[in-house]
Amino acid sequence: MYNVKAYSAASATSPLSPTTIARRDPTPNDVQIEILFCGICHSDLHQVRNEWSGVMPTVYPCVPGHEIVGRVTKTGSAVKKFKAGDLASVGCLVDSCGVCSECNQALEQFCPKLILTYNFPDKHTGGITYGGYSGGIVVDERFVFKVPGNLDLAGAAPLLCAGITTYSPMHHWGVTKGKKVGVVGLGGLGHMAVKFAHALGAHVVLFTTSPNKKEDAWRLGADEVVVSREANEMAKHTASFDFILDAVSADHDINAYLSLLRRDGNITLVGVPEKPLAVAAFNLIFGRRSLSGSLIGGTAETQEMLDFCGKHNITADVEVIPIQNVNEAYQRLSKADVRYRFVIDMASLKSEA
Ligand SMILES: NC(=O)c1ccc[n+]([C@@H]2O[C@H](COP(=O)([O-])OP(=O)(O)OC[C@H]3O[C@@H](n4cnc5c(N)ncnc54)[C@H](OP(=O)(O)O)[C@@H]3O)[C@@H](O)[C@H]2O)c1
Ligand SMILES: [Zn+2]
Ligand SMILES: [Zn+2]
Repeated sequence: MYNVKAYSAASATSPLSPTTIARRDPTPNDVQIEILFCGICHSDLHQVRNEWSGVMPTVYPCVPGHEIVGRVTKTGSAVKKFKAGDLASVGCLVDSCGVCSECNQALEQFCPKLILTYNFPDKHTGGITYGGYSGGIVVDERFVFKVPGNLDLAGAAPLLCAGITTYSPMHHWGVTKGKKVGVVGLGGLGHMAVKFAHALGAHVVLFTTSPNKKEDAWRLGADEVVVSREANEMAKHTASFDFILDAVSADHDINAYLSLLRRDGNITLVGVPEKPLAVAAFNLIFGRRSLSGSLIGGTAETQEMLDFCGKHNITADVEVIPIQNVNEAYQRLSKADVRYRFVIDMASLKSEA
């Protein structure tokens, strides 16, 4: 074992503060990574504040972070894809059983034995997993991805969660040229969804509660922008969408969007608000509409997404911050005030004692 610097939360109400955590020495299949950048996902905020206590209660101290880009410092003897000095990235998953039908189809996110990057049992240490708000991490090669060399590294970090979480459902639901696609919420996930839907050739409509994000939405690739609090603007789109991706982190009226779907249209939830959403059955039965969910993406699709981003030069729009500003960033994230992903420059961790 060896120690790295990190930031952790001691309780649901305490700020993140500097600490030291232990990492395992690399086993034969492991890649040891020095973390250069880590994105701040709204899931980090939900988890740190224990907002998902019913399903995934937070174990403290909690070290969040699952949008990790770094440089390989050491590899185990059996590692084939990476060598010291390579760029590498890690997302939300660090382990799965490797033998179930989900794993066999590279849908590891649905493996009954999946291990998330933080706040999950760590079979190596006997404790819990600690995420990317830290100087380094050791991860099984199966869950480490190549980063296309042309991408800005800070902008690439959010691809590991915000990117794959929006890319995967768009492929599953067949977003292509000629489809009318809605994206709800222009945050970290939402702005990646707009970029992907645009790159896939769809007609993209962005729904926002923040009128001051309109210009940005057009610049990011939206064809139309609707302020969702304006009922007349919403009504113009009734029964017209093939697919809507809902990336809202807080309580909101899903029925307002269900009624915008055409026959057999689908709305997929990727946002995970703390409280359940109410669904009016009439909005589903008229038009045979469907409501579904999607969880990040598997290993093969994550590498495919990164390669797609390399080819199309797609990265997140980021506000790079030193880790000492993380609590202020959380405050702003809770108010939907981010353009459009905070990313921690992990070099800032070096100045901590
Ligand atoms: N399914 C998965 O695998 C997965 C993966 C990652 C994250 N998530 C979840 O996805 C959600 C979004 O994450 P994120 O990192 O993109 O968050 P984010 O950057 O904070 O963006 C959320 C956006 O939702 C909108 N919003 C916030 N409060 C709202 C309200 N009360 N009513 C309506 N709209 C509101 C805002 O957009 P506007 O200002 O444009 O309205 C905000 O920018 C979180 O719940 C997160 O936990 C799920
Ligand atoms: Zn995330
Ligand atoms: Zn499995």
